[in-house]
Amino acid sequence: MAMNALSEPRSTPSTSGSPDVTGFYHEKTGSIVYLVVDPATRHAAIIDPVLDFDPRSGRVTTASADAILKVIAERGLTIDWILDTHPHADHFSAAAYLKEKLGAPTAIGAKVADIQKLWEKIYNLPPYSTQYWDRLFADGDTFRIGSLDARVILCAGHTLASVTYVVGDAAFVHDTLFQPDSGTARCDFPGGSASTLYDSIQRILALPDATRLFTGHDYRPNGRPAQWESTVAQQKRDNTHVGGGCDRTSYVAMREARDKTLPLPELMLAALQVNLRGGRLPDPEDNGRSYLKIPFNAF
Ligand SMILES: [Fe+2]
Repeated sequence: MAMNALSEPRSTPSTSGSPDVTGFYHEKTGSIVYLVVDPATRHAAIIDPVLDFDPRSGRVTTASADAILKVIAERGLTIDWILDTHPHADHFSAAAYLKEKLGAPTAIGAKVADIQKLWEKIYNLPPYSTQYWDRLFADGDTFRIGSLDARVILCAGHTLASVTYVVGDAAFVHDTLFQPDSGTARCDFPGGSASTLYDSIQRILALPDATRLFTGHDYRPNGRPAQWESTVAQQKRDNTHVGGGCDRTSYVAMREARDKTLPLPELMLAALQVNLRGGRLPDPEDNGRSYLKIPFNAF
């Protein structure tokens, strides 16, 4: 494992019918990769795995994904699913790489097709395929991780296709709610909507109060240690953007004003070209090398 690719994983034990959850913090992008384990069968899912990319050199490496493979081997886990919550704008997905290594099926929200259409135009590329994933989840779809029941809640707003995965008492909410002191995710990418995100967050907050919520990012405000787990009750009370019963109009005004002040993610134009192909680099050219396209003045 390369130095500092992923910090030491931290685990949360499960209650009965619920998964053991291990979070791996990716320092460079503030992303959290999850290993979601059914303790009864030792079957597991990986959520939002990261491929390492150095934009200065164009080098793509697998240290972070390999660190997770090592834990999977050490713990003797069988991976049932490699899941993404949405096409990320800040890092490359390691889904395709891990599928190659583990043979497990990949999945993402079905509305990824709508995001592909938006970005095909921006990049002026031929149509993307939805065949890059083995399964596309619609709102309400269910699946299993070992003996655990999992279900999908469409949670659009940050992107058109964002989904939350609910497994027992755990929900993987990615870019909707962050930790209570950090608020909520931005909504200004193509297809984003603050009012839609508000409604999606209400769906998450309607889960039982004790539900463990696992966020997709933490940017360590004021230099505190990285955190990624909260509960519905904590978020309802303390979330700096939506806690205390904040209404939709105030939320949307706050979110839209704040988004205008945020620079676009450094890797957005690179990351979408990979993530809309399920974590595959663009097809190689006749010299065997892959290239990215950067649209000038599209944003
Ligand atoms: Fe995101």
